[in-house]
Amino acid sequence: MAETEFDVIVIGAGPGGYVAAIRAAQLGLKTACVESRETLGGTCLNVGCIPSKALLHASELFEEANHGTLAKWGVKVGNVELDLETMHGGRREAVKGLTGGIEFLFRKNKVTWLKGLGRFTSPNSIDVAGTEYRAKNIVIATGSSVTPLPGVEIDQERIVDSTGALELPKVPNHLVVIGGGVIGLELGSVWRRLGAKVTVVEYLDQILPGMDGEVRKEAAKIFKKQGFELRTSTKVTKAERSGEGVTLTVEPAKGGAAETIEADVVLVAIGRRPNTEGLGLEAAGVKLNNRGQIEVDHDFCTGVPGVYAIGDVTPGPMLAHKAEDEGVAVADILAGHVGIINHDVIPSVVYTYPEIAAVGRTEEDLRAEGVDIKVGKFPMLGNSRAKTNRDAEGFVKVIADARSDRVLGVHIIASVAGTMIAQAAQAMEFGATSEDIAYTCHAHPTHSEAMKEAAMAVTGLPIHI
Ligand code: FAD
Ligand code: NAI
Repeated sequence: MAETEFDVIVIGAGPGGYVAAIRAAQLGLKTACVESRETLGGTCLNVGCIPSKALLHASELFEEANHGTLAKWGVKVGNVELDLETMHGGRREAVKGLTGGIEFLFRKNKVTWLKGLGRFTSPNSIDVAGTEYRAKNIVIATGSSVTPLPGVEIDQERIVDSTGALELPKVPNHLVVIGGGVIGLELGSVWRRLGAKVTVVEYLDQILPGMDGEVRKEAAKIFKKQGFELRTSTKVTKAERSGEGVTLTVEPAKGGAAETIEADVVLVAIGRRPNTEGLGLEAAGVKLNNRGQIEVDHDFCTGVPGVYAIGDVTPGPMLAHKAEDEGVAVADILAGHVGIINHDVIPSVVYTYPEIAAVGRTEEDLRAEGVDIKVGKFPMLGNSRAKTNRDAEGFVKVIADARSDRVLGVHIIASVAGTMIAQAAQAMEFGATSEDIAYTCHAHPTHSEAMKEAAMAVTGLPIHI
C-alpha cells in the first residue's frame, strides 16, 4: 500500500520545490514531492539555467577558437570546425548528471517522489494519478511556462520557444528573436557565436527592461558590436511558415507601416507566466492576482491555512536562486523555525559575454523616488586583470545613499560579472556602506578590484582612473 499521509507535500520539483522538500525532510518532516516530468529539477535543470549555460560555455569556446581570440594569444588551433551534435551531447550530459543528482538527494533524504500531475481536492489533499494524498501543509512550487504571443504559433521546429532553441539540430542562417530580454540575449548569443545572423525584435525602446539605464545602453552597444541586429520599438504582428523559413510581419510599436522579415528560425522569448492551470486551486480556495500569480505573505502562506507557495508561481523575479532560497525558508517555517528572505537583495545575472549582473535598486528608480544618492563608476578598462586578459569591456557602478553611504544598488558589465556580484550582495545583506567596500582589501590582480574602485569613486577618489 502506498503511503498517502505526509507532513508536507510539495507540488513541483524545480529549484523551489526540490529544495523545499529536501530541507523539510532534513528537519524531520515526512515529505513528498509531486513532479510530472520524467526527471527532477524543474525548468532550471531540464530546459533552463543548466542546458543554456552548457551551450553558452561551449559556444564561447567555439567563438574563441573560430574568431582568432586564441590565435592572438599564440594558441593556434588550425581548422576550426563545429560538431553541433557533440555540443548537444555535452548539454544533455550536464542535464542528466544534475537531474539524476536530485533523484539521489531525494533517496538520501527520504523524500517520496509522487510521479504525475498534482491537483488539489481540498486545502489539505491532492490527487496524483488517481490516488488521493493528504498533508498538514502543501507547498505550491509549480513554476512557470513560456508566455505565448498571439499570431505566432510555436511548432518547436521553425518557430520555437527557449526549449526548442536549446535543441536546434543545425545552426540557422538567420535567427529572429522576439523579445530583447534575458532569454533572447543568452540564446541569441549561443547561435550568433555558432554562425547565425541574429536579429532581436524588442517592443520597448531598449533591451533588458528592469536593468539600470546605463547598463542597458552599454549592453546594446556591445551586442551591436558583436553583430546582433537590435530592432527596438518594434512589434511582431504575425509569423507565417513560408517554404523552409518563416515570414515575420513587424511594425513600429506605436503603429505605422508594416514590413516583413525573413527568418530560418524564430525564437519567442517575451516572458514567462505562472503555472496554475489544472492545479485545482478552486478546491483549495487559493486565489490569483491579476497577473495570474499566487500572492503570499511574509511566511509564504497563500492566505489559506496550510497552503503555501514559492518560486516563479509567486510575484518577484523569476530566478532559480530566489526559488531555492524560498524553498529553504518555507521548509524552515513549516518545521517551526524562522525562515526569512530579503527580497531587496536578490542578484540577477545575464550570462552573455560580457556578463551583466545587478543587485538592489537602479539609479532611475531611486531618483524617481527622490532618494538622495551618490554614484561611483569604474570602467573595466582601468582594471589591470581585465586589461591583461583583453576582456576590458564594461564597468562597475555602485549606488549609495548620499546621507548614510549605505549601498543601495550595484550594477556590473564585465566578463565575470556573475561572480563579482556575489560580493555586492553579501555587502548589501550586511548593510555595508560604499566606504566598507572601498576599505576592504581586494586581491590583486582580480576583476573584483573594479568593485573596490567603483566604491572609492562614490567619494570621487578612485586610484586607477
Ligand atoms: P520550475 O523550475 O518551473 O519547476 C516547476 C516544476 O513543477 C516543473 O518541473 C513542472 O513540471 C512541475 N509542475 C508544474 N505543475 C505541476 C503539477 N500540477 N503537478 C506536478 N508537477 C507540476 N534562472 C536563474 O536564476 N539563472 C539562470 O541562468 C536561468 N536561466 C534560464 C534559462 C532558460 C532558458 C529559462 C526558461 C529559465 C531560466 N531561469 C534561470 C529561470 C529559472 O529556470 C526559474 O526561475 C526556476 O526554474 C523557477 O523555479 P521553480 O521551482 O519556481 O519552478
Ligand atoms: P524577459 O522578461 O527577460 O524579456 C522579455 C522581453 O520581451 C522584454 O524585453 C519585453 O519588453 C519583450 N516583449 C514582450 N512582449 C513583446 C512583444 N510582443 N514583442 C517584442 N518584444 C516583447 O523574459 P524572457 O527573456 O522570456 O525570460 C523569462 C524569465 O526567465 C525572465 O523573467 C528571467 O528572469 C528568467 N531567465 C533568467 C535567466 C538568468 O537569470 N540568466 C536566463 C533566462 C531566463
